[in-house]
Amino acid sequence: MSIKGFIFDLDGVVTDTAEYHYQAWKRLADELGIPFTREENEALRGIPRRESLLMLLKGRTYPETTLDELMERKNRYYLEYIRAISPRDLLPGARELLQEIRAAGLKAALGSASKNAREVIERLGIADLFDAIADGYSVTRQKPAPDLFLHAAALLGLPPTECAVVEDATAGVEAALAGGFTVIGIGPHERVGRAHLVLPSLAGVSLSKLLEQLSVSA
Ligand code: G6P
Ligand code: MG
Repeated sequence: MSIKGFIFDLDGVVTDTAEYHYQAWKRLADELGIPFTREENEALRGIPRRESLLMLLKGRTYPETTLDELMERKNRYYLEYIRAISPRDLLPGARELLQEIRAAGLKAALGSASKNAREVIERLGIADLFDAIADGYSVTRQKPAPDLFLHAAALLGLPPTECAVVEDATAGVEAALAGGFTVIGIGPHERVGRAHLVLPSLAGVSLSKLLEQLSVSA
């Protein structure tokens, strides 16, 4: 097997926007008088905005127009928080790995369920390191369906068998496995243990070492 491209999830892999998503959902939940903890937020990793809201509402029902307003409100808060994002917010090792991938003539794509993904990578100063971007606007069926990653691979002009997906969410790992990709899980085994290779973070991860580990374990 030879890997010719990498598809990176954004939140929790390249930068820790998971914290800003949490802050924004928490603010909304507080306003609605709904208890919402950091632990509950963990279950929202990789989950699209609408589905996240429905999980936060825990069975409470609202008219469709109210749901739209609540999603807009959460996104307003999130945009407020990400306004402060700068290259300092890149997680350790992310930029270095992307640069190595490019220098080696391999391809890199972003595969994020977020509709704010472009804005975030612009603010991080890494937009030019991606050959293709698949985001919250790209496909209808979200993770754990494989569609977003399949779309990203198609944009790169590569079959899934030649791409590795880097993911921190259970839903993302499942999506990548369903699409026939090689999967690198970032985070604890309980969350990403189904990936072919599990790493605590991208810190100190070199391309050559990664490819070596993948060819052994994939
Ligand atoms: C990512 C995050 C989720 C977020 C989703 C949609 O997958 O991990 O927490 O809900 O993107 O993000 P958006 O910016 O479009 O609301
Ligand atoms: Mg993520």
